[in-house]
Amino acid sequence: MFIVSYGVDQVYNYFKKHTIGGEVGVKNGNNARIMFDRINPQKLHLIDPWGVYDDDVYLKHVPQNEMEIAYKNVLAWANKPERAGRVELTRDYSFNAAKNFPDGYFDWVYIDGYHDYENIYRDLKEFAPKIKDGGFLCGDDYWYMGINMNKMKIRRNMTPEQYQHAIGMIEGINDFCRDFDHELLFITMDDSPKFFLARNGDKAHSRVIAERVIMDCPFVIEVDNPRKFRQDLFVPSGAASPMEGRAYIKIID
Ligand SMILES: C[S@@+](CC[C@H](N)C(=O)[O-])C[C@H]1O[C@@H](n2cnc3c(N)ncnc32)[C@H](O)[C@@H]1O
Repeated sequence: MFIVSYGVDQVYNYFKKHTIGGEVGVKNGNNARIMFDRINPQKLHLIDPWGVYDDDVYLKHVPQNEMEIAYKNVLAWANKPERAGRVELTRDYSFNAAKNFPDGYFDWVYIDGYHDYENIYRDLKEFAPKIKDGGFLCGDDYWYMGINMNKMKIRRNMTPEQYQHAIGMIEGINDFCRDFDHELLFITMDDSPKFFLARNGDKAHSRVIAERVIMDCPFVIEVDNPRKFRQDLFVPSGAASPMEGRAYIKIID
């Protein structure tokens, strides 16, 4: 697995144009807009419940009116004449929405929904059969989420068990790759690293993207074993609280 010094907005420039893509977890559509502009997809499916659910650790802390506004903004953007039916919104959870797409439909799907072990694993598993030969899965936050959870003040409302699952993004992605014959090709150097996968033995387009990005970006690191990744916190001297620190990746022996 490689760590490349590009951010994902630069990596989008390397995607094949006029492809069929999807995003799971859309919220305000910030990433959707960048993907649309850079990739110029034939079709972009945006999947999000845009709702508040009391049994949902993440969504229950987002006010419903905020989600309603986000949904309306994304819908208005999608319906602009220049997008002319090329952006379709599905207001539902990923695992329900996935069932309605035929197998082998997507060229790529970007996953950025519910961030915990079970959900990232399930989203990747549900969408993997929906990817055509040569297509690929990618997504946000190949990362330990504990620091974000603290900053978002979500942690104090979580049981220790929920918290453990919530910081399991890296394990969820690694375990999906192991169980469903995928390979983690590279991650980006965004403040929350994006991941790019390929089916083992498949000439996935992500391999072409990976090779070109590795050749072009200024700085590349290869990691033999992503299971040796840990998130740690760098706290500057004189900090009043560890929360003034910043998260970084530590590669352990
Ligand atoms: C971090 S935000 C997405 C941000 C967006 N990808 C961007 O970068 O602009 C996460 C979103 O995931 C959505 N979400 C949570 N669980 C989901 C699920 N199971 N299926 C689809 N979306 C989900 C939430 O409603 C929220 O809007």
